[in-house]
Amino acid sequence: MQEYVLYNDAVINRENAAIDMEDRGYLFGDGIYEVMFVYNGRPFAVQEHFTRFQNSARKLEMNQPFTNGQFAELTNELIEKNNIINGIVYIQMTRGKGPRNHLYERDAEAIVTGFAREMNPPKEAQVKGIRALLTEDIRWLRCDIKSLNLLGNTMAKRKAADYSCAEALMHRDGICTEGSSSNLFIVKNNVLQTHPANHYILNGITRQFVLDIVKELKLNVREEAFTIEELAGADEVFITSTTMEITPVVSIEGDIASEYKIGKVTRLLQEKLKEKIGALCHMK
Ligand SMILES: Cc1ncc(COP(=O)(O)O)c(C=O)c1O
Repeated sequence: MQEYVLYNDAVINRENAAIDMEDRGYLFGDGIYEVMFVYNGRPFAVQEHFTRFQNSARKLEMNQPFTNGQFAELTNELIEKNNIINGIVYIQMTRGKGPRNHLYERDAEAIVTGFAREMNPPKEAQVKGIRALLTEDIRWLRCDIKSLNLLGNTMAKRKAADYSCAEALMHRDGICTEGSSSNLFIVKNNVLQTHPANHYILNGITRQFVLDIVKELKLNVREEAFTIEELAGADEVFITSTTMEITPVVSIEGDIASEYKIGKVTRLLQEKLKEKIGALCHMK
């Protein structure tokens, strides 16, 4: 089947899309991206993803060529042309091409590319939970920017897989930050806790939805950093992300060794998030 991709402001046949060898995204990882989940042929939380895309662009002084409406239209076109029912849409923007030079120009013309892929939410992991590896957070100090530079994340994920774990949870000097591609929550005595949205973590869209649900349910929540000892002593642990939704963690190894039961707070939040997704994506 023909595959269609996004190239700047058009959705075109993949065979006709080409990236220059001196694109700054390729040379320096000088760019940003978003991943949206598609349910029932509809993208979830496009507006929220666009807002974060704009924020990342602003923080890197990149010119962002889209309006909210264009971003949503192109996302829908990618989904429709590729006949995606359940899957993801990936959109990235680099600072474009030019002779290799660390110094970037503020008026550089951005290059936007994107694709769509079939994917199902990880049902089994959500039901049974996952094993995770706790390891040092070696990333830079602007984790709030959804940048293409992901080596700290990919190295942590590789290490986790080598320990037969599905995710790497990270800490900086004993303070838990987030997962390699997810946010981290703990529950202790029915109080939820997650790292505040500052430069040490990416403010996940799923994290924000979970915090909204928590507030709607009037549960107690603290957006405050917690230590690896607090992680070890938690009643429930779960991660959140666009592709993992809410996934319980049932054991952690590496810098601590702990086992967890999948608790009622995690189950309740999973159910409420599904309801929200169902309502926003018109699912039965
Ligand atoms: C480092 C990191 N933190 C958190 C998340 C979760 O963000 P979201 O819920 O927007 O997918 C991701 C997603 O890829 C991530 O890479």
